[in-house]
Amino acid sequence: MSRKKIIIGLFGFGCVGKGLWDILQQRARQDVEIRKICVKVQGKNREFPEALLTYNPDDILDDPEINLVVELIDDASQAFFIVNRAFEKGKSVVSANKKMIAENFVTLLELHQKKGVSFLYEAACCASIPIIRNLEEYYDNDMLELFEGIVNGSTNYILTRMNQDGVSFDYALREAQVQGFAETNPALDVEGYDSKYKLTILMAHAFGITVNPDSVFNFGIHRLGTGVIRYAREKGYKIKLIARSMKLDGDEFIAYVMPQFIKSDNNLFHVDGVYNGVITETFFSDRQFFVGRGAGAFPTASAVLSDISAISYDYRYEYKKLTGTHPVLTNSFTVEVLISCGSVDCLDASDFNEIAEEYHAKDFHFIAGEIDFRKLTGSAWIAERDVSVVLLPSARGKPA
Ligand SMILES: NC(=O)c1ccc[n+]([C@@H]2O[C@H](COP(=O)([O-])OP(=O)(O)OC[C@H]3O[C@@H](n4cnc5c(N)ncnc54)[C@H](OP(=O)(O)O)[C@@H]3O)[C@@H](O)[C@H]2O)c1
Repeated sequence: MSRKKIIIGLFGFGCVGKGLWDILQQRARQDVEIRKICVKVQGKNREFPEALLTYNPDDILDDPEINLVVELIDDASQAFFIVNRAFEKGKSVVSANKKMIAENFVTLLELHQKKGVSFLYEAACCASIPIIRNLEEYYDNDMLELFEGIVNGSTNYILTRMNQDGVSFDYALREAQVQGFAETNPALDVEGYDSKYKLTILMAHAFGITVNPDSVFNFGIHRLGTGVIRYAREKGYKIKLIARSMKLDGDEFIAYVMPQFIKSDNNLFHVDGVYNGVITETFFSDRQFFVGRGAGAFPTASAVLSDISAISYDYRYEYKKLTGTHPVLTNSFTVEVLISCGSVDCLDASDFNEIAEEYHAKDFHFIAGEIDFRKLTGSAWIAERDVSVVLLPSARGKPA
């Protein structure tokens, strides 16, 4: 198959945009040229030739020779505007912006398909792990039963530093920001939104489910206190932020993002630092495990470059699983959780179907047991700043 020459208009020259530039400097390619780079703030020192620089998106969008827009900015609404315009102009797009993609999934799908261009976004989900193309190409719709994993490198880095090295949440977050792993708005990472955006994108490719991210529950790591960290350490568990979607029954699927205690016999136990790990389970071939760097300049830019190469062969996602299936997302299931709080008043034992363990000390109280998912997500105490929720090690979700 012949490759076409790719002439790129690049938006954004931050952690990932510069990473892409640096990779192309180290591995020059005849078939890939960056023609223009559009950034936002004037007067910054840029490590690329002045002739490529622009602050005007139209210099890229109106250039008929630019056949690919690579969108690597940190502003989801501006990114949506740019990507829309690029499609209108008949340009293919590579993006790493999970918030923008997840929040506008169906619109973006319709727009790029109508224009007959490619829209690839591998870097948006697990950076260096080629999980979208895998879910897209490999599994038959009927056979994939579950995918779950650690899909956010910065929270995994923070949890690793807290679990293993005993540093505080704030200190570990600052480190992740300095190293370029964290989103510009850290709440997106630590409150589980970033993982949820990735989860909803992956659900479309895994199961053919398109959902508004608002309809999927996310609970982050920002409320994990020293009591829960100590509990995990005493039991030999690690805490990981898990994004999970699985078939529950027939056409019914569940999906959520929550912290979970992970035992040492689980592959995800060994996924530390900025690494991501994804487990898939299929009906016949059982369980597979994928691992790789989930954030940072080069791992993310390398996934972007892989999409650029794929576009030179006119590769497109086919979204095969979106046709012919009628999967439904349900919140009617039960999970086993540990709910902890600094004061006993925050906990309500009557919300649990079954209590497995209960503990009360001066400033650390918890109840562990089975709870209805709708009761968990709709409860008043979940909004309390002091309450933290962690899934027990084997919890996934059972029909209610
Ligand atoms: N960092 C990672 O490890 C990672 C991993 C996976 C995915 N991502 C995604 O990749 C994207 C980029 O992340 P990043 O970490 O590289 O961000 P970043 O370091 O904060 O850089 C953002 C860049 O976007 C530019 N920008 C912002 N608004 C713009 C606008 N309206 N027009 C043109 N340029 C604009 C900024 O310009 P100035 O230089 O002028 O400020 C800057 O160069 C995000 O969607 C992020 O979610 C990042």
